[in-house]
Order: sequence, then structure tokens, then C-alpha cells
Amino acid sequence: MTLRNDFLWGGATAANQMEGAYREDGKGLSIADVEKGARHGIPRKIHDSVHEGDYYPSHEGIDFYHRYREDIELFAEMGFTCFRMSINWPRIFPNGDDNQPNEAGLAFYDRVFDELLAHGIQPVVTLSHYETPLALVKKYGSWRHRKLIDCFARYCETVFTRYRDKVTYWMTFNEINETMNQAEPYHQTGIRFLPDEDHNLVKVIASHNMFVASALAVEIGHKINPDFKIGCMVQYPTTYARTCNPNDVLARRFHMMPNFYYTDVMCKGNYTNLCESQLNRMGLTIEDVPFEPGDAELLHRGTVDYIAFSYYFSSTAKSDDGKTITVERSNPYLKRNDWDWPIDPTGLRIALNELYDRYQLPLFVVENGLGAIDTPRPDGEIDDDYRIEFLGSHIDALKEAVDLDHVDVIGYTCWGPIDIISVGTGEMRKRYGFIYVDKDDNGEGTLARRRKKSFFWYQRVLATNGEITAPL
Ligand code: BG6
Repeated sequence: MTLRNDFLWGGATAANQMEGAYREDGKGLSIADVEKGARHGIPRKIHDSVHEGDYYPSHEGIDFYHRYREDIELFAEMGFTCFRMSINWPRIFPNGDDNQPNEAGLAFYDRVFDELLAHGIQPVVTLSHYETPLALVKKYGSWRHRKLIDCFARYCETVFTRYRDKVTYWMTFNEINETMNQAEPYHQTGIRFLPDEDHNLVKVIASHNMFVASALAVEIGHKINPDFKIGCMVQYPTTYARTCNPNDVLARRFHMMPNFYYTDVMCKGNYTNLCESQLNRMGLTIEDVPFEPGDAELLHRGTVDYIAFSYYFSSTAKSDDGKTITVERSNPYLKRNDWDWPIDPTGLRIALNELYDRYQLPLFVVENGLGAIDTPRPDGEIDDDYRIEFLGSHIDALKEAVDLDHVDVIGYTCWGPIDIISVGTGEMRKRYGFIYVDKDDNGEGTLARRRKKSFFWYQRVLATNGEITAPL
């Protein structure tokens, strides 16, 4: 067998993209709750509060809040051994800095975790997946402010204590490296730039505060349960030099640096030479990182137990002068999906190798998948052979990394095992699931669940521990 016997198989989701019930049982607003739906190529509008009559996809999601039993039943039928989900932070602390946690919110996750465990599925939990309490954004400017570190630590301590015996695998911030990669990192940090702010400096400050918060969470978690495995989570953008021109090879390095900036600090416990070099490329120095007494020691003590990452596609990088770089998704060797994302399974094998070579930590592929438009046949069946082909080729690439390259991979959870809201556009039509959800981009539909062809394919993949990935 290629993969270890205890390999974790499942699917990955986030609360804001599936739970709905956005005001139920005392939940406060998150940054996702004021983000409107949009379309491919049209940015999502962000409001300061909920506007009556506007459509916000997170408000209903796919109503997992009320249908989790039915959904977990279907995951179990596929043979999941784990399920990645996030805790919706303002369900626990509605304003982020409340004196007491919200018991109804805590009880909801007890019910979900119990249901999963009863089906032999272990929860894998993201602590912050685009669900920062909106009140913290308004009161403190979000992760610009160190106050967020205390709020996050308190939230973590609360859920670590409560679910001490129900959850082993945790991760702190979803795709934390997108803080630097995005023009305005709203999802990751809740930050929208103010006029005249130095954007790079704000990103560096917010990142440092999140690094400290993550290290604190690791330290607190390990005290509460030494068996906890607490990871970081990054988006891994496998990048090729456009040509063998040395400047293009350098461009590739420059494009990867902002990503290793995050994994270096969280896995090695300090700002490395690469981090300093990245700061210089942003017009800053290490002096601009807002260190406070004790931070350096904490970062060192709070390194992560494993690296979780998402992988969707690869890019190419080039440079004419060895300084400024151009990054493109177009690659003549690769096909693209309906949203122009290149399809590159080998890029996953490369990602696994690059991360393992650099950190020698266990790796968990916690997101990978194909967003596609599914058209049900007249009889209602959905023949998503394209999804089967995509996932099968990526799982094969993962097995090569394990088998041929001896990389330590502990699990694979593909993105959106059930159709959920797209983060990029707020659409429903960008579907990743094995399970179809009857809902459209305007929020209309019965929300009924239906198994697609890929459902039965994934069931066989899991039953054979990944040995059989061929199409049905
Ligand atoms: C990742 C996020 O970036 O990509 C998920 O962690 C997101 O939350 C996924 O859903 C796919 O992106 P999209 O825009 O297709 O939903």
C-alpha cells in the first residue's frame, strides 16, 4: 500500500460558506456576513452592516446548521475518516471581546462533533476561516491591533477546553499567506485599507499579530491537551520559471518568497533571511515588524506540528530585469477550468516536495478540487466525469510524492465535498461537491441534496485507501 493505514480521507469546508443561520442562537456578525454575492470577474461588494433587501450568500449558506445530520450521513456513506470544518468565531464570541462565550454556539459544535464521531469521522478544525467577528473590525481595525491577539487566544482557549476530547487536528488561520498576496486581504484579516495607509506596512503588522496569535494558540492548545496537533494553513502556489532565462528563475523565487515568509515564521519560529529579503522587496526592513517584548520567544515556542495547505493550480513567473516580476496563469502545457484556473496535478507533487524539503514536517492537503458548472441530466443524475478526472489525477500525484519521493503526507480533504458558496464570487454555480445542492446564485432552490457520479467514485477511492482512482 502506498498510503499509511491511518491516512485521513475526507472533505473540507468553512462555516461561512455552508452553515447559514447567520443570526441564530446568539451568533454575532462575521466579516463574511456583510459580503454580497457577485459573478466571475465581478468583485464582491463589502458593506459595513447588513443592508435590508440585499443578498448575502453566507446568511443561508447551504443550511448546514439545520441539515448537518443528513450531510454527515452522506459523508459517512462515502467513507470519510475526517471532515474539515471551521468554527464560526462570532458564534462563540458574538462581538469577539464578550465577557462570556455563547453557550448555544458551543452546544452546536458539540452536536456536530458528536455526530461526526458517532460515524467514525474525526473533525479537523480551522479556528479562523474568514469569520473574524465584524465587531472587532469596527472597534479595533481588526488585525492591525494587538487586541485581536488576546481575543483570538481567549476564543482558542475556550474551544480547546470545550472540545479537548473531541478534536485532535486544529489549524489556526486559513491561507494566512494570502494576507500578503491579495491586493486587499479582506477575507484573511478583515482589513480594508484606509486612505493614505502604507499597504505593505499594514500587511506586515497584521501578519505579525497573527503569527503571535497563532503561536499563542499552539502553546495554549498543547497545555490543554498535549496530543493536539496544531498546524498552520497556507495556500501553496506552485510556480514555474517561464523559461530557463536566469531572470525568470529568479522571478520564480521572488514569487514564492511571500509564501515562505509565513511558513518560515510558523514552522521555524523566527523571521529568516528569506523574510528579511521579502521585507526589503516590499520597501521595509525587519525594524518595521512591530515586535514587543516576549514575541520572539513565543514565536520560537509556538511552532506548528504540521503544515496544512491548499493547492488548486500552478502559475509561471518571468522577469526582464531580475527585479520586477510578472506572474501568469497561462501555461501552454495545461488546460483550464471554467474559471480560468490551470489544471496541473504535477504541481501538487511539486508542492509536497518543496514544502517537505524545506520543513520536514508532516503535510496535510486540506484543499484541492475543481470548481465547475454541473448540469443535471433530465432524469436528475449528474455525470461529473471532469471532476473525477481532476481529483483522480491529483490523488495519483500525491501518491507519487509519497511513494517515489518519500514525503510524509497524513491526509487529503478535497474542497467542498458538498456544493457550498464560492468565496471568490459568492456563487453557487461554481460547484466542487460530490453532493449536489439544489440552490442557485440568487439563493433560490429547495436545498435538497443529491449524490453525483463522483460520490460513488470517491467512495471507491476511500474504500481502497486511494489505490483505485480510475474513472467508474
Ligand atoms: C480557498 C479558500 O482559497 O479556495 C476556500 O480557503 C475557497 O474558502 C476555495 O472556497 C475555493 O475558492 P472559490 O473562490 O472557488 O470558493
